Amino acid sequence: MKTIFITGASSGIGKATAKLFQAKGWKVVATMRTPEKETELTALDNVIILPLDVTKDDQIQSTVQSAISLGDIDVVLNNAGHGLFGPVEAVNEQQILKQVNTNFLGPLKIIQAFIPYFREKKGGLFINTTSMAGLTGFPLSNVYNATKWALEGLSECLSIELSMFGIGVKTVSPDATKTNLFTSADVVSHPLYDNVIQKMIGGIQQSGESIDIAEVIFIAATDGKDTLRYPAGGKAQQIYARRLEIGPEASRIETTKWFLGL
Ligand SMILES: NC(=O)c1ccc[n+]([C@@H]2O[C@H](COP(=O)([O-])OP(=O)(O)OC[C@H]3O[C@@H](n4cnc5c(N)ncnc54)[C@H](OP(=O)(O)O)[C@@H]3O)[C@@H](O)[C@H]2O)c1
Repeated sequence: MKTIFITGASSGIGKATAKLFQAKGWKVVATMRTPEKETELTALDNVIILPLDVTKDDQIQSTVQSAISLGDIDVVLNNAGHGLFGPVEAVNEQQILKQVNTNFLGPLKIIQAFIPYFREKKGGLFINTTSMAGLTGFPLSNVYNATKWALEGLSECLSIELSMFGIGVKTVSPDATKTNLFTSADVVSHPLYDNVIQKMIGGIQQSGESIDIAEVIFIAATDGKDTLRYPAGGKAQQIYARRLEIGPEASRIETTKWFLGL
């Protein structure tokens, strides 16, 4: 039986992925900040719930060690994430640090904690949930995008660096999906930008389902291919293909025209 370790499994894409892998016969180590609140995953066979706030260094170490001691881990899914919307001129340092710590440093530290284990067993796969925001630039989710670009960049570097140990690294980049991400996001108000922020967030909420992303994560975990990037859900494939087709500069200009006409 294969095992996946998932961060941020309490809701949305993480929970859908935990349920899908369990249904496909995998053992799931589902980690979350508040395990005491979980009722759905606790009722499933072969699902182990462990506490993990990805911004807490001590907990990363203890939970990764607990997970390893429970049995073999095949796939680590860095899924936990937090949203921030607002103009760069208005976001404060605390909000920026929360983004960086949750969306970038957390996954990086979890990867660091698992590398020696994967190196020793000469295998293993890291899948990092990034975003279309990690492959393209959007206005007003600037710092969020920056953390996802950072995670994309880290993943590409690591996919090369860890290849000598037989360790895989992939990213799954969802298009906008109906989850708690937008309702729990920090939205920073500024009179000159508020109208356009509300239009953007309103548009984003009418979008795809977590299970669509979970299915792409399952493909990434099981296809045996040396592919780095898996755009997932909604129009992710088309958006990414368009960017590759016209190049990043033309893509940026196209997005700017859309934004100015929003
Ligand atoms: N929804 C989208 O449109 C979309 C698009 C592209 C990428 N993504 C990415 O997909 C991933 C999953 O997000 P989602 O859309 O499924 O949203 P979600 O339902 O809000 O799930 C986010 C998960 O991350 C957890 N989390 C937040 N901060 C954490 C921390 N410090 N430590 C541990 N867990 C933490 C949340 O836990 P709590 O329940 O404790 O808050 C929750 O389980 C994120 O990385 C997000 O950036 C989402």
